[in-house]
Amino acid sequence: MAIKFDTRYPSIDDLRAKAQTKIPRFAFEYLDGGCNEDVNLIRNTSELREVQLKPNYLRAHTGSSLKTKLFGVEYDAPFGIAPVGLQGLMWPNSPEILAKAAFEHNIPFILSTVTTTSIERASELTEGKAWFQLYHPAEDRLRDDIINRAAAAECPVLVILCDVPTFGFRPRDIRNGLAMPPKMSVKNILQILGKPHWAMQTLKYGQPNFANLKPYMPKGLDLKQLGKFMDQTFSGRLNEEKIKPIRDMWKGKLVLKGVASEYDTEEAIRLGLDGIIVSNHGGRQLDAGESTIKPLTTLAEKYGDKIEVMMDSGVRSGPDVARAMASGAKFTFMGRSFMYGVSALGKKGGNHTISLLKTELQQVMEQLNCATTSNFGDHLIK
Ligand SMILES: Cc1cc2nc3c(=O)[nH]c(=O)nc-3n(C[C@H](O)[C@H](O)[C@H](O)COP(=O)(O)O)c2cc1C
Repeated sequence: MAIKFDTRYPSIDDLRAKAQTKIPRFAFEYLDGGCNEDVNLIRNTSELREVQLKPNYLRAHTGSSLKTKLFGVEYDAPFGIAPVGLQGLMWPNSPEILAKAAFEHNIPFILSTVTTTSIERASELTEGKAWFQLYHPAEDRLRDDIINRAAAAECPVLVILCDVPTFGFRPRDIRNGLAMPPKMSVKNILQILGKPHWAMQTLKYGQPNFANLKPYMPKGLDLKQLGKFMDQTFSGRLNEEKIKPIRDMWKGKLVLKGVASEYDTEEAIRLGLDGIIVSNHGGRQLDAGESTIKPLTTLAEKYGDKIEVMMDSGVRSGPDVARAMASGAKFTFMGRSFMYGVSALGKKGGNHTISLLKTELQQVMEQLNCATTSNFGDHLIK
């Protein structure tokens, strides 16, 4: 097994622990938390880990390849980087670090509308391979402008979101002043002073800002006005009326993220979407919801031949990717795993985390005697 990562951090848990020492508490809690009592956050990983796989040791081994085709593109692994908002708050310049690492490793990187790097910059760093996740703008003019920018930047895939009809109820963020409208307290400033490396990097790269939205924002908004601007600019609840014009406009692949039910999957198919990401936003929206592995199994079996079924939420290791793929996912995504990596290790974090996950997944495939990523299902213990 060729080890191509920093051997001090051989698991996502190690990266999480390191990240906690490197970044201010309010930023760590924003990244790490779920919503309400964190029930769904914890279930995502624990129920995924109930999936068990069976090896075939004596069958002839012809090699195991991580390469996976999705939407006509061959990626080097069956996992990608999920869209995360405000990434520069957790580690300065982190969306650029992750976009570059994803490009070098030939895996997908999805840029969030509300992160701290622009579509144009992400596209430049990935030679037009970055995907873009659109938070639904309230005004058609703004929607069209952002979609046109994503098309001009040659984004191959547009991801729209159905699981944010409301802001998740996140007690830590409310306590830390990161709910809408956000506010910076003396407590937060003291937390920043306790993390000098983070503070220096923030000085170097400047205060994180909503790079995609800058052209539309009035100059010099204070934090309270920013909250109001975000509230007025986006209307989270998606429906047929909002999806149809996007499908008409967008010539690339269109994916619906946040799907957890048969109803929403059937709507996605009817409205001509190309894929769904079965996701509960990493347990950040509906604490009383199911872990994603549960609907994944049903949705992949029932609709997998009509639409590409992908999955995220709770994936923290190579074996977890294998479990999700064996349960029917065509591809997987991770949010926190990569953000822990980059918050822990700065500019080396993207490369480290992808290398670690690739190494783990390769080992699982060889151990199972699984030749390709579309064969994981043969190893599922039902
Ligand atoms: C801090 C944070 C911010 C997020 N921001 C966004 C976002 O802006 N857009 C989006 O589609 N999903 C967002 N997500 C959800 C992720 O795309 C993804 O669904 C989730 O992280 C998957 O769960 P995991 O963190 O357990 O891998 C965010 C998740 C986290 C942890």
